[in-house]
Amino acid sequence: MTTANRLDNALSVDAHLKSVFPRDFLWGTASSAYQVEGATREDGRSPSIWDKFAATPGKTYQGETGEVATDHYHKMEEDVALMAQLGIGAYRFSVAWPRVIPEGTGQINPRGLDFYDRLVDTLLAAGIQPAVTLYHWDLPLALHERGGWLNRDTVHAFADYAEVVARHLGDRAHTWITFNEPWCVAYLGYGSGEHAPGLHDKQAAVTVAHNLLLAHGLAVPRLRAADAAARVGITLDFSPAYAADARPETARAVAWLDAFKNRWFADPIFRGHYPDELFAGMSVQPPDFHAGDMEVIAAPLDFLGVNYYSRSLIRGRSGVDGQAAVEFVSPVPGALYTEMGWEVFPQGLTDLLVHLHREYAPPALVVTENGAAFVDDWNGDGAVPDAQRQAYLAQHLEAMARAIQQGVPLAGYFLWSLTDNFEWALGYSKRFGIVYVDYPTQRRIVKDSGLWYAGFLRSLKE
Ligand code: FCB
Repeated sequence: MTTANRLDNALSVDAHLKSVFPRDFLWGTASSAYQVEGATREDGRSPSIWDKFAATPGKTYQGETGEVATDHYHKMEEDVALMAQLGIGAYRFSVAWPRVIPEGTGQINPRGLDFYDRLVDTLLAAGIQPAVTLYHWDLPLALHERGGWLNRDTVHAFADYAEVVARHLGDRAHTWITFNEPWCVAYLGYGSGEHAPGLHDKQAAVTVAHNLLLAHGLAVPRLRAADAAARVGITLDFSPAYAADARPETARAVAWLDAFKNRWFADPIFRGHYPDELFAGMSVQPPDFHAGDMEVIAAPLDFLGVNYYSRSLIRGRSGVDGQAAVEFVSPVPGALYTEMGWEVFPQGLTDLLVHLHREYAPPALVVTENGAAFVDDWNGDGAVPDAQRQAYLAQHLEAMARAIQQGVPLAGYFLWSLTDNFEWALGYSKRFGIVYVDYPTQRRIVKDSGLWYAGFLRSLKE
């Protein structure tokens, strides 16, 4: 088979697999406030930890920030119209806490809420279901200055904020995601320092993780009380761990990495306890518990949100344990990589969904993020050819269909992302959109992958 042929085959979803998606499956795209909105100083929004981090020299690619981003705050109607044009049925967005309660606690800012009001109304008028993430990394700076996620008070501040948003939007929006990727918030934010607020303290990451879990658990009943029709979940990031060889030290390293990367948050939420080997393997102490914390954290959910981009192939080092024993195999010979340096491994999504279903049995699973950054060449006209992204999407949709065939109650898919956007520490250098953004003009150009997704969605209705 020639390369062109292989790519052609990869671009279409097998007709039989297509038929396994339930009729009411949510087909969406995802984004987050700081990555798209811009307008960071408008209508009473206060700074978040990401404004401060991005403005600190050396923290982001070429010092780029979310100050303008894709200007979604002003172009919201255009972006929703684009989604409608592509036949997208659902939109996962996040609410910026610093817009709604600028100081983190206390005074509510009606102008901040107004933006999300209009967004929800515009979506519904276009026949698009809103899915609301309450925390996608943009903690109000004022709260950080009072200890942020290291301070147990922030847990209560979050639950109050969640209730404010649900009381306001809960007459129209019913899908609630408390946190996006708390692993990244805790570990990248406080452990490795790659993300805001940029601390390098693993012990702090463990405290933050516990507080995030607690904030999640406290918010669940508050959301249900504010919106009787609420479907509540959390979005976790997973990177399934595979063994590169059959050595026992590799099996041990795989088990440890799985605890660290995949079970740190899922086990407390679905089983009410942390993985046994987690803290010793990180060379830290367990977090401070208060009586009853684990019961709060294990509040029953309606769905688990799954973010999947890639897997980890590893081998174990002998003579050491835990984190020190994990050696990543990269590049994997013969594998295709995205611009993020992430291996394209669609089988990992099938394996992961089947595993999560068997292991934790949430009532439903939703893929809340999946997508790929590749270099996009825009030649100034109306087209952006991106065959690699199309192939990535087609292969991952098939991977989901295979999971459904194995009994996984998968209820939706949110592609990351509608438009290119601010990719955190990597600034605007990585493009994940199915719609290209020409940043100097803020013009949107639908990429071939966007046309492909639209065609796929149309074909489901035939
Ligand atoms: C995830 C984040 C999301 C986006 C993608 C590429 O970790 O949740 O905001 O940056 O990665």
